[in-house]
Amino acid sequence: SVPVIVAIDGPAGSGKSSVSRAVARALGFAYLDTGASYRALSWHLMVRGIDASVAADVIAELPDFDFRIGTDPDDYYVRVGSADVTDAIREPRVTGVVSLVARIPEVRRWLNERFRAIMAATPFDGIVAEGRDITTVVAPDAPVRILLTASEDARMARRSKELTSESAAAVGEALRSRDKADSRVVDFMNAADGVTTVDSTDLDFDQTVSAVVDVVQTAR
Ligand code: C5P
Repeated sequence: SVPVIVAIDGPAGSGKSSVSRAVARALGFAYLDTGASYRALSWHLMVRGIDASVAADVIAELPDFDFRIGTDPDDYYVRVGSADVTDAIREPRVTGVVSLVARIPEVRRWLNERFRAIMAATPFDGIVAEGRDITTVVAPDAPVRILLTASEDARMARRSKELTSESAAAVGEALRSRDKADSRVVDFMNAADGVTTVDSTDLDFDQTVSAVVDVVQTAR
């Protein structure tokens, strides 16, 4: 039967990735981290010494960009060629250029095709796909579409929990500027028609997971 698609969008630091993975686990669904693919491409370009701000050079790399992503919530990994980049793609030097890569329409179309293929071929009963434009572009016909938000203060606080106040300020600024750049490309701050908003500002992690699972159960 056709897998159930749960589409989740939201800004950086909304806890989207960990919440989406926990929701997938709770439902027995697969999990697709689309942001990791944009990050993996950024990593690939960095290793090859390609300037992410030159769209033509980025596009020319796509045929050589061999990435694989684990969609079992209990076996998550990101690979580029033979390199395991699961951790490397979270480094600030990668995060710093990912918005440049993400603003290239041809890159988005190329990745979106892969996302749709991964969703259609999943051996699970459903798949939780998470990113910035899943509810609007990648899977606008998904039976469940959610915008996961939290106040800016709450998002900054979660991201900088383990950091000193000095680096917390730097993390906050990096997050804000990334959201600003990404917002010029796709709107993930406002819920599109038919999209349910889950605001996690006053919820802890488990409560947020339950709230999202409830939305899925109600919609199905
Ligand atoms: O979700 P994450 O922070 O890992 O996403 C990394 C970057 O990938 C975002 O800042 C954005 O530039 C890009 N992205 C996107 N569309 C998506 C998912 C991520 O443009 N659906």
